[in-house]
Amino acid sequence: YEITVALDPAFTVGPVDPRLFGSFVEHMGRCVYGGIFEPDHPTADEHGFRKDVAALVAELGTTVIRYPGGNFVSGYRWEDGVGPVENRPRRLDLAWRSIEPNTVGVDEFTRWARGVGIDPIMAVNLGTRGVRAAVDLLEYCNLPAGSTAMADWRARNGRPEPHAVRTWCLGNELDGPWQIGHKTADEYGRLAAETARAMRRADPDIELVACGSSNSGMPTFGSWERTVLEHTYDLVDHISLHAYYEPIDGDVDSFLASSENMRSMIDAVTATADHVAATTRSRKRLTVSFDEWNVWYQNRFPGEDGLEVRDGGPLIEDTFDVADAVVVGDLLMALLDKCDRVAIACQAQLVNVIGLIRTEPGGSAWRQTTFHPFALTARHARGTTLRTAVSTPALATARHGDVPAARVTAVHDAESGELVLLATNRHRTDPARLNASLASFGVTDDALIEHVTIADADPHATNTAEHPDRIHPRPVSGTEIADGRLTATLAPLSWHLIRIR
Ligand code: AHR
Repeated sequence: YEITVALDPAFTVGPVDPRLFGSFVEHMGRCVYGGIFEPDHPTADEHGFRKDVAALVAELGTTVIRYPGGNFVSGYRWEDGVGPVENRPRRLDLAWRSIEPNTVGVDEFTRWARGVGIDPIMAVNLGTRGVRAAVDLLEYCNLPAGSTAMADWRARNGRPEPHAVRTWCLGNELDGPWQIGHKTADEYGRLAAETARAMRRADPDIELVACGSSNSGMPTFGSWERTVLEHTYDLVDHISLHAYYEPIDGDVDSFLASSENMRSMIDAVTATADHVAATTRSRKRLTVSFDEWNVWYQNRFPGEDGLEVRDGGPLIEDTFDVADAVVVGDLLMALLDKCDRVAIACQAQLVNVIGLIRTEPGGSAWRQTTFHPFALTARHARGTTLRTAVSTPALATARHGDVPAARVTAVHDAESGELVLLATNRHRTDPARLNASLASFGVTDDALIEHVTIADADPHATNTAEHPDRIHPRPVSGTEIADGRLTATLAPLSWHLIRIR
């Protein structure tokens, strides 16, 4: 089938915030312990962090990482994780019914993140704690040594320079009955407002994220945001959204079009935020922090209720295939297309726990299939998202109705002159012929830098410890530019990156 695309550098959506390429590290399963941190591993650095994992994280190009949860944060006492390691308590983490040794805490995580060139995003516990603990953590992280007892405590713990954490999440998924300290929208809205007010007094330069809905299927989706923002609108910068996707009842076509749900969630939440702005006559416009998103086969996860308390070990270590990678690439394209209203996005999670990277204890670390669309998008989709006029046939899906058979996203870097086209062919059997009109870019016939794809004859192919590079980006032949027109073939069920200058 045919896809035609018209583009013009003057027709823009908005600048791409580099924080769209964020990830998430939670104290859960083997994300921290046995993931980024494994002191006995042959590649461990002097602080116990795996250098092989850090190298893959650097290659991934993630810009920000949300920490330390997730459901975990709603029971967390951050003070347990600072100071001499031998004095730190072992605690029962109620979220994942796991023993938390507190070997890694705020100081270790921020040092590791900064070492890999990543800005930490910190979440505070508004499940079982409140204003005081949140402000203490903020002072601990951001105030200069010599200013307050909390800042001096950090200095005594060997970190004289502030951690300088700019973005803060006011709790996690407090709309969810599974959350420790679950709240009604009014209860949470009040607490979030009071916490935000106090945190801003301690550090006026921070950005704050209010908790939105845990997914669009929540019974309170929409009304939660409205009520929370009625309490917090003037005090926060972003409202969060979370979404995980999987084929439900074997419905692969709907799964491949998951980003249609992500797109409508963003539209619904920003419309709700704008409604609150209208009622308060506010000119301020909130943006979304899509601070958990991914493919997650939740149907394989029995939940933690009633299970034995765990002391380490794996949790939700999905092995992703080619179809999952196409969906991840497509979700990133939705975030880019909506970059005028999405400022932050965190793929969840970084390592092992539905991770882009997988590790073996004492052994190797490798890239999951989903690593590749993320890394290539994070590296190349910089600048300004363009409006695309795309014409493509529709595919019928049970969950999302008729959806475009293909999606095309364009990001233009005016400084370097590079134009990046990202594309997915969601059709499982039919190739697509892409025909993009680039005349207004003044491209010459030799302007193609590269065209690579994630695709395979076997959509269920995966990367494993034994075959870590079974799936990797491959060059596509036959792509051409002639007279300002790009033509390319997109294989069935595939994700693409096309770079032009
Ligand atoms: O990422 C796994 C879990 O998913 C997080 O802890 C929680 O916030 C979400 O429900």
